[in-house]
Amino acid sequence: MFIIKLHRFIVSTNKIKIKFPRWLTLIFMIISMTVFSNERKLKITHQYLNIPVGYKARMKLVEIKVNGKMHREFPVQLAEDSINYWIYSDVTEFKGKTISITTPATSESLNRIYQADQINGADSLYKESNRPQFHFTVKRGWSNDVNGPIYYKNQYHLFWQAFPFGLSWNTGFMYWGHAVSTDLLHWKELPSALMLDSIGSPWSGSSVIDKNNDAGFGKDAMLLFYTAYDRVSNKQVQCIAYSTDNATTFKRYSGNPIIDSNWEMQSNDTRDPHIFWHEPSKHWIMVLLEKDGMSFYNSTDLKKWVKQSHFKGLWECPDFFELAVDGDNQNKKWVLHGGSPEYMIGTFDGEKFTPESAKLRYCEETNEDQGDLLYASQSFANMPDNRRVQMAWGRIEHPNMPFTQMILFPTEFTLKSTPNGIRLVANPVKEIERLHQKSHEWKSVTIESANQELTRIKPGPLHVKLHFTLNKDNAIRFIYQGNELINLVSHDLLDGENTLEILLDKTVAEIFINNGARYRVQNLPAGRNNDGLKVESEKDGQTINQLEVYEMKSIWDDTE
Ligand code: FRU
Repeated sequence: MFIIKLHRFIVSTNKIKIKFPRWLTLIFMIISMTVFSNERKLKITHQYLNIPVGYKARMKLVEIKVNGKMHREFPVQLAEDSINYWIYSDVTEFKGKTISITTPATSESLNRIYQADQINGADSLYKESNRPQFHFTVKRGWSNDVNGPIYYKNQYHLFWQAFPFGLSWNTGFMYWGHAVSTDLLHWKELPSALMLDSIGSPWSGSSVIDKNNDAGFGKDAMLLFYTAYDRVSNKQVQCIAYSTDNATTFKRYSGNPIIDSNWEMQSNDTRDPHIFWHEPSKHWIMVLLEKDGMSFYNSTDLKKWVKQSHFKGLWECPDFFELAVDGDNQNKKWVLHGGSPEYMIGTFDGEKFTPESAKLRYCEETNEDQGDLLYASQSFANMPDNRRVQMAWGRIEHPNMPFTQMILFPTEFTLKSTPNGIRLVANPVKEIERLHQKSHEWKSVTIESANQELTRIKPGPLHVKLHFTLNKDNAIRFIYQGNELINLVSHDLLDGENTLEILLDKTVAEIFINNGARYRVQNLPAGRNNDGLKVESEKDGQTINQLEVYEMKSIWDDTE
């Protein structure tokens, strides 16, 4: 304390030109920077703390205390000299109070933190050069897994793994991000639903609506099930948070954790609880990653859980649901997948999953280097039309932006019979059409004239639909801004007519071939040129039966 005070005295006396030897000032500065934290007191009168970040600055732990009691802690690369972007922390809950911000950084960098009712960069928010225009991305920071998407009181709620203070995954300090939408297209990002508590950092999980008040938190309460991860011991235990104010704020259940199986499993990999109501057995079911596979637990009160079985072979972030095959409600099957888009089809008796298929994929691996660009998806079906909608983390980088990663476009899951057996297919939700702004359509066009027409459409967010019958031994390629999107060869396709659908946004292309029989996610590297979409075929004489191109509206146009 004495050294901090002395250092402050030196800094302030420098202003009034009382000279101390330079070496003494330096020594004190180094000591106070490396050994001691600096503190700044602030009376909170505004909604946000705006915090400057420097790409090259060292990570510092920032602590926010009120009357000596710790309320928040998070690491941030607090800018020491040049500022690359700004992050924020919503401090509404402290309005009228004096907070103390402590961090082992210089008081100069601490002093650049300021409060305001707008986040720094609000004017350019969602208009940044690399911001996807019809995919959800966070305002600031990092996002990964989708957590507990659900329909509740006429709104869709989306949660995700968030690190709002930097551009990388920070496992010890994850938050649950939260956004709402009335149409699955336009999302409004809300304050985080969960942040770190004394048990740990809230990792992935799911949500349910407790219609009959089985857990006792209140009828129709929204419950979030998540893993609390302790960054010191690496322990992973399962917890509940609940909301009784329409999913505005979430409280922790006082009996947390509800499951601690690290010791029993002799593993710290116990995480990502996925919960749902199973009508035939009249039980709540939890699917949980434990060590080498998925465990199935059941419960009647959502708090006490009993393990029923364990299924090896799929890894983290389970999603598990029943779907009608080809829409036939008399023929339903269960689908189990983990973090990757690998899934298995089978039966479930309320206690045990019995697979009937090999491991399959509903989204292709993009390439060996990048692995799965679609990861950790979760699905839900409790909206009025009971479709099964899945949303996933898109592992897409956003260079030079104050945010990174994305949520891929919501797709509808269906089960289809094929000559090779039953398959899970994903197709963009039908709402996508509401974003069509300007449409272009051609029938029976040659590749040459299609290209001529396409030059009239400027690059930008597009939704492209194609029907084509590829001549034998031919190949068709799609190029956007000089980068290849996909190359389809006739022997990979159906003999007759094939369909292709491409969702083209700033940094991502999502490609659906033959109504989801194949689904690919590609990141869009920076354009090599300013050309829009182009089609090429390997051999002459190729025509396209039907080509539709829709210029897309931005989902952010009306966002404040
Ligand atoms: C998958 C994952 C989850 C975990 C979360 C933490 O991406 O490792 O298993 O809960 O990320 O962010």
